[in-house]
Amino acid sequence: MRILVTGAAGRLGGRLVETLGARDHAVIGVDVADFDIADFAATNRTVGQIAPALIIHAAAWTDVDGCARDPEQALRVNGYGAQNVALAAAAVGAAILYVSSNEVFSGTTKQPYREYDATAPINPYGYSKWVGERAVLTLNPRHYVVRTAWLFAHGGKNFVQSILNAATQGKPLRVVTDEIANPTYTDDLAAAIADLIETERYGIYHLVNEGACSRYEFARHILDRTGHIETHIEPITLSEWPRASTPPPFAALENLHGKLLGVTLRPWQAAVDAFLEREGRIERGAGR
Ligand SMILES: NC(=O)c1ccc[n+]([C@@H]2O[C@H](COP(=O)([O-])OP(=O)(O)OC[C@H]3O[C@@H](n4cnc5c(N)ncnc54)[C@H](OP(=O)(O)O)[C@@H]3O)[C@@H](O)[C@H]2O)c1
Repeated sequence: MRILVTGAAGRLGGRLVETLGARDHAVIGVDVADFDIADFAATNRTVGQIAPALIIHAAAWTDVDGCARDPEQALRVNGYGAQNVALAAAAVGAAILYVSSNEVFSGTTKQPYREYDATAPINPYGYSKWVGERAVLTLNPRHYVVRTAWLFAHGGKNFVQSILNAATQGKPLRVVTDEIANPTYTDDLAAAIADLIETERYGIYHLVNEGACSRYEFARHILDRTGHIETHIEPITLSEWPRASTPPPFAALENLHGKLLGVTLRPWQAAVDAFLEREGRIERGAGR
């Protein structure tokens, strides 16, 4: 299939280009250097020239605190940018897969969210991703909305690297115990998306590594698996960690819809171990 991937220079987009290319799709990766998704004319023109059968829209402004400081820009890029991409896809008869976020939920429940549970974003990033969802859902009937959470990837900034760097440099670690979600490995997510698009079963999906944990438990697992068992982490609450954005406290997702189609991801602990193994942080074979 001829597939256009936006956000191709990003953590997930880069992995999508590799994974889909390895499965013999004709993949064209684009990023902000090629065109700005917030510019409708440029988006429409480029999509028209490329004429894909499917657009995987992974581009976004993912700086959650930045979005809280500049909600209009968040909306411009994540909300109306997704609208532009959805319109451009519809104009060339392409299907669209929009990568969304667990932050479209309020996080006030205690049960993992299912695909058709009510959304209620509580911060500007979540709101902007929710607007993107609404646009995609209404403008192109051949849509997949894939919500995910807490991505970690090789290269670039992510929680796993930050925890390991702090531990290695002997910096004090303070991590929140009351923010819960699903750590998700971009390699696993890219493979699951590649499986999903084969089905042509359009709809809303929650593609995350299986299981959920707090940021504290996530950090503890990373340190315990990499020989930092003695490293202390001070458990704190969200109220003790002031930041511009307010994260939904319990925003774990359940992959119910994908599972019905056989699209599943392994438990998050196994995914973290596989990541650490590929980074050379733990012995080969330990991450299976
Ligand atoms: N990271 C997570 O934990 C997480 C969790 C849930 C959902 N998601 C969603 O998953 C998707 C991929 O996330 P990611 O972590 O791979 O993001 P990422 O690494 O930040 O990559 C996003 C890419 O989009 C580009 N971009 C930003 N603004 C753009 C614009 N106006 N026009 C064109 N391209 C633009 C970025 O370029 P610059 O870097 O130059 O800005 C970047 O290369 C996003 O839709 C995100 O909302 C992420």
